[in-house]
Amino acid sequence: MVKIGATTSTTEGFAPELLAVALFPGDSSPDLGEDVAKVFSEGDFSGKPNETALLYGQEGPAPRLLLVGLGERDTATPEKLRRAAATVARRARTLKLREAALSLPTLPDVDIQAASRAAAEGARLGLYRFVKHKSAADGHEPETFWLVAEEGELEEAQAGADLGAKVAAGSVLARDLANEPSNVATPEYLAQRAREIAEKYGMNLEVLDRAGIEAEGLTGLVTVGRSASNDPRFIVLEHRKGGEEAPLVLVGKAVTFDSGGISIKPSAGMEDMKFDMSGGAAVLGAMEAVGAMDLPLNVVALVPATENLPGGDAFKPGDVLEMHSGKTVEIVTTDAEGRLILADALSYARRYEPSAVIDCATLTGACVVALGSHASGLMGNDENLLAEVQAAGETTGERAWPLPLFDEYTEQIKGDTADIKNSGGRGGGALTAGAFLQEFADYPWAHLDIAGTAYGKKGNAYTTRGGTGVPTRLLIEFLIGRTP
Ligand code: BES
Ligand code: MN
Ligand code: ZN
Repeated sequence: MVKIGATTSTTEGFAPELLAVALFPGDSSPDLGEDVAKVFSEGDFSGKPNETALLYGQEGPAPRLLLVGLGERDTATPEKLRRAAATVARRARTLKLREAALSLPTLPDVDIQAASRAAAEGARLGLYRFVKHKSAADGHEPETFWLVAEEGELEEAQAGADLGAKVAAGSVLARDLANEPSNVATPEYLAQRAREIAEKYGMNLEVLDRAGIEAEGLTGLVTVGRSASNDPRFIVLEHRKGGEEAPLVLVGKAVTFDSGGISIKPSAGMEDMKFDMSGGAAVLGAMEAVGAMDLPLNVVALVPATENLPGGDAFKPGDVLEMHSGKTVEIVTTDAEGRLILADALSYARRYEPSAVIDCATLTGACVVALGSHASGLMGNDENLLAEVQAAGETTGERAWPLPLFDEYTEQIKGDTADIKNSGGRGGGALTAGAFLQEFADYPWAHLDIAGTAYGKKGNAYTTRGGTGVPTRLLIEFLIGRTP
């Protein structure tokens, strides 16, 4: 993985093979020289987001000068810089360079540490590839990516670079887990990866196996997992560095393969259902970063992990379950399995008397229809918490957008033979799913439907096809914001 460091342009021995400067439109500052001015005036480069121009033989420490666009100055955000840094890192890779550098720009209302952090995240995430299962890895990888700061800002820039590297590593873990096929990323595999995090950072870990899940009364999880030969797991990972403070609980749906069960899905596109554990992956990714940053908080991760497969022992439409909370649920479709395992995790979370709980799940196709891949659906029962989560999404570029949980959506899932049913029909599918979860959350709670954002067919400046890591960085940002 590329090493990210901060430096100044006057540091002895600083001689990257490429130096990039991030520019706003019309930003052809005189100290960049005549040639840069010419690139602007010839119209080859205007400073639009992620636009680039490469110049050779310029004065300065590097043989290559790369101009990269940031877009308009007054709309400049850390996200724009994240993308620009990724673009630079990718160009360095294409050019097969060992060392590249980006001069940190001054963005209005963004301090140098935040800028440095965003750039570090962009460089790391932009270079991400999932090549583990390719026999011939074609792969040049830059070794070092420097963030260049003014002398007086070096310390802050270094702190930002370190933080960004840790945050990105959490997101990379989430991507790796999500991208693994379901024959690798089984529930026990996820438990094993949680074990590694626990050992590395001294966290508490408890993994319930099928018998433990049953004994705990996690009916939804044991029922969804019943007909699979890879047994379910319930992963409980606790970072206890917050003294007596009430913990923050993260819950992540980890259906390692969702065939739909008896209510089986159409086969076209079913391969994407290996990504149905992306919520759990993001939660584990966030815990990796929590450990690396050693946040002075109590944070608990709950990851219900299972396959959803048909079989002779499978649960069936019409079945009634008595859930962990005591509420009864009528199964309308076995393909609405995520809410069943999440409901149990949410009621399990009560024992912590948490100050807030955030769950994330690839929960509904309806959310993809509503928001596409540009924002996660955000629902919950606490306006302040929702605002906090939305703000964390904005800062990190992992946007979340509020959707309503009107009483009418709860009406829509009233059961016929049980208290509630696990589907409210086609109308408002993301919202009835949220309303279902709400029945099991009696603390400040937010729900992120990441069905459209957790993975994609095509990437952007710093994501690739496959797992995006969303909402790992949002969760980390939320936790940082809760740090005393
Ligand atoms: N894992 C799916 C949701 C999903 C769909 C994720 C598309 C990513 C892309 C979930 O378990 C599911 O099947 N949901 C159903 C619920 C319905 C049957 C009430 C859906 O959205 O169709
Ligand atoms: Mn399903
Ligand atoms: Zn699912």
